[in-house]
Amino acid sequence: MQFTVAIDGPAAAGKGTISKAVAAHFGFAHLDTGLLYRATGRRVLDGEAPIAAAQALTPADLARDDLRTAAVAEAASRVAVIPEVRAALVEFQRSFARREGGAVLDGRDIGTVICPEAEVKLFVTASAEVRAARRFAELKQADPSLSLAQVLADVRARDERDSSRAEAPLKPADDAILLDTSDLSIEDAVAKAVAAVEAALPG
Ligand code: CDP
Ligand code: CDP
Repeated sequence: MQFTVAIDGPAAAGKGTISKAVAAHFGFAHLDTGLLYRATGRRVLDGEAPIAAAQALTPADLARDDLRTAAVAEAASRVAVIPEVRAALVEFQRSFARREGGAVLDGRDIGTVICPEAEVKLFVTASAEVRAARRFAELKQADPSLSLAQVLADVRARDERDSSRAEAPLKPADDAILLDTSDLSIEDAVAKAVAAVEAALPG
């Protein structure tokens, strides 16, 4: 069976958490497409040119444990505006989406560009303040010098860059289901996403 769940939304909205839980619930594979851009950004921070970096990605790049920093997120969003970088990453994402047994992909342009035919499209949001607080809680242990105000400014700048770029901007697909998680627990957000997939499954 081929069945694709596309989950898009701004930074720290809960896309990854919901995607992992939906994939585990239904036994689908999961791809965090942000990792492709983060790994490209990581290579660029190490001195490589962006397009060559995207074309050279290997599974080992995606497994690096230093992709979750604020600096890498920022570098990711800078390479993500380059059309040739995005083009280099399309086929990998599309073939993942078509794999047998079902797939969940999360990112910014899954429902709009990568998989416009996805059986389920969710657009996960939350207020910028809530998202920044969540990201701050994740990052502060590794970097005690980080402030909530700085994380909020970073999140806003990245959302603005992601939403305003010409190529594959962050926006809900016309047929996406909107899921605002500002006032939802993880359990409630996952339950809504699971229900949306359940409703679209064949049979
Ligand atoms: O993938 P994305 O950047 O959209 O977000 P995430 O990594 O899934 O979630 C960011 C943080 O928010 C994680 O620490 C989650 O545990 C937390 N979260 C939450 O507190 N409430 C939710 N409804 C969803 C996520
Ligand atoms: O986890 P978080 O939502 O903070 O970021 P991410 O999903 O890891 O994505 C990092 C950056 O990669 C985003 O800010 C986008 O600029 C870019 N990205 C993209 O352009 N398209 C995607 N499908 C996924 C990520």
